[in-house]
Amino acid sequence: MALPAAAAAAAVATAPGKAILLGEHFVVHGAPAVACSIDRTVAATARPLPRRAVRIDSPLGACEAAAGEGMPGGLQGPLAAACLIAVSGAQRAGVGLHLSIDSCVPLGAGLGSSSAWCVAAAAALRAATGEEAGADSVAAAALDSEKAALGSASGVDTAACAYGGFGAYCAGGGVVEGWRRIDAAERLRLVVADTGVPHSTPRMVGAVSRFRDQNRPEFEAMAGESARLAQECERAVRSGDTLALGRCMSKSHALLSRLGVSTGTADTLVKAAGAAGSQGAKITGAGGGGCVIALPGRGKDGEEAVARAMRSAGAAECFVADAGVQGMDVRPAPP
Ligand code: PMV
Repeated sequence: MALPAAAAAAAVATAPGKAILLGEHFVVHGAPAVACSIDRTVAATARPLPRRAVRIDSPLGACEAAAGEGMPGGLQGPLAAACLIAVSGAQRAGVGLHLSIDSCVPLGAGLGSSSAWCVAAAAALRAATGEEAGADSVAAAALDSEKAALGSASGVDTAACAYGGFGAYCAGGGVVEGWRRIDAAERLRLVVADTGVPHSTPRMVGAVSRFRDQNRPEFEAMAGESARLAQECERAVRSGDTLALGRCMSKSHALLSRLGVSTGTADTLVKAAGAAGSQGAKITGAGGGGCVIALPGRGKDGEEAVARAMRSAGAAECFVADAGVQGMDVRPAPP
């Protein structure tokens, strides 16, 4: 649901986290990726403040900026990005704003927490100040703030969190133009296992860029293979061929391992999932820690077997996620 411009004085927005089924890192260098939303969400509520200031309360702490003071110093990660959106929105509208964020998406785990924060914050703030708050303008605003506060980003996470469902993504032409929806034959369930090691996306993206500079022909061949797998993955999602999808995911993990972004724990979790009947498994997101996703066999028994195996193999946390859920939502906040 998107609110019409100038409709609401207080608004609440939600955005789902995401998983990348195929093509992370290579997407930064021009190859396509396939991503989907998952049913862990971030909620943001924006309300007018009686004073000309911006205040944010969030699981990463609180911050406040008086009108005209700009961004408070020392903010980190998605709190910095959300504050940037709030400060510029308050300035444009000439009002004070309070933003409150709640998150069920683990931070720094490759599940799109930063993008979900930014999408939910941008949607709530835009709606609260009467700006157009459809998915296209929200995705563009969210990606701008992520880039400004957190460094470069291909936009695949932002697109998956804003639009939801399944999609193929190509960087370079803007977040709206980059996302192409894939009509999935069915909604998928993924077993998500957290290695318990938080990662830094910019550090891993930097490491891959160095790998590319030092091994150009090998990297180009790997990017070509990833692009071919992304096409196969898209066909598998469209047709509901989970065996083919699982095969693509496992081949993608092998490519990511060769890039150096997997870890011993992640490899162990991938192997454990395979031994427990998963159709395919891989790291999701930047790697160097973070989460592994596995496509379980059908039914509750298949899911539980894979989750149990990944827990026994050392996962810090493990849960089953619905993939391909609805994207961002924004509506008037209850009083
Ligand atoms: O921040 P993460 O872990 O969700 O990873 C983002 C995906 C990358 O391809 C590694 C980076 C990008 O900008 O696409």
